[in-house]
Amino acid sequence: MVFSTTKFIEQTVPEIKKTIGNELAITALSGGVDSFVATALAARAIGQNLYVVYVDTGLMRKDETEKVKIAAKNAGIKNLIAIDGKTKFLGALKGVTEPEKKRKIIGEMFIRIFEEEAKKHKVAYLIQGTIAPDWIESGGLGRDTIKSHHNVGGLPEKMHLKLCEPLRELYKHEVRALAIELGLPESIAQRQPFPGPGLAVRIVGEITEEKILIVQDACEIVENEIESASKTGKMEKPWQYFAALLPTRTVGVRGDERSYQYTIIVRAVKSLDVMTVSFSHIPHEILERISTRITNEIRSVGRVTYDITNKPPGTVEME
Ligand code: XMP
Repeated sequence: MVFSTTKFIEQTVPEIKKTIGNELAITALSGGVDSFVATALAARAIGQNLYVVYVDTGLMRKDETEKVKIAAKNAGIKNLIAIDGKTKFLGALKGVTEPEKKRKIIGEMFIRIFEEEAKKHKVAYLIQGTIAPDWIESGGLGRDTIKSHHNVGGLPEKMHLKLCEPLRELYKHEVRALAIELGLPESIAQRQPFPGPGLAVRIVGEITEEKILIVQDACEIVENEIESASKTGKMEKPWQYFAALLPTRTVGVRGDERSYQYTIIVRAVKSLDVMTVSFSHIPHEILERISTRITNEIRSVGRVTYDITNKPPGTVEME
């Protein structure tokens, strides 16, 4: 069945209005298309009764906070509340290596920060951009938990905010169509997905500040090279493309000396609904450019690999 963006907006705006009533609400803006669309719908529904909150977890892409502030301003969001949560998130994740534990800690930390903010403004509702794959993969109703998405399975059992999730039944391509209909800029509508737990699920094992900087730089190189190759027609633009860091070090040689350094995995996938994906066929010369740039520009990385696993049996993110 064809998805009608106009009908969806016509139905959903009054529904949000009815749910929130005369209460106040917070929207969790992460910078991705889902949360921007949820925020735009909520703003239409309840206007001045909405607080828009962005949390910098310290696990964001390079320069992300600045980019989100600019994107929010361009999208007409004037009263963005930007919270620096780096110390709290990294403190709580110190020494944690188990993927589900990381996800639960992050999910809970987000909620506690939103609750603190809600208390200040006497807010009753949290409006989130949760979409279908988030709750399907988080398990329940006889389904196995593939991974607890931070905004679903990662939520704490006890929370003081009531949830409103207007995009719950939608898939990413439908949310992108809504973004266009709502007049959001192309750069947001077409932005590649970024997981709520951020680089925590792209650093396999323990998270350290050193590793965060490595993945941020590696992700930026992968993004730049793939975007420029796609723009010049050298390859099809993947659904998602990024770098992840393995905890394993391998032996190499730099100049005349032995090195023993980290390994980066480059991941690029194509998909429609992200329930299944296949790895992108990137021309070898582009992979070579990515590998050369990563090992030249990030001196603590000595090896770069390309992930050729589909989903299933892999998932998009490493954890
Ligand atoms: P996986 O790794 O499950 O990812 O194949 C499917 C899509 O979801 C994104 N992802 C998340 N998004 N919260 C999110 O908002 C999460 O906890 C989360 N985990 C994965 C992932 O980037 C991919 O687009």
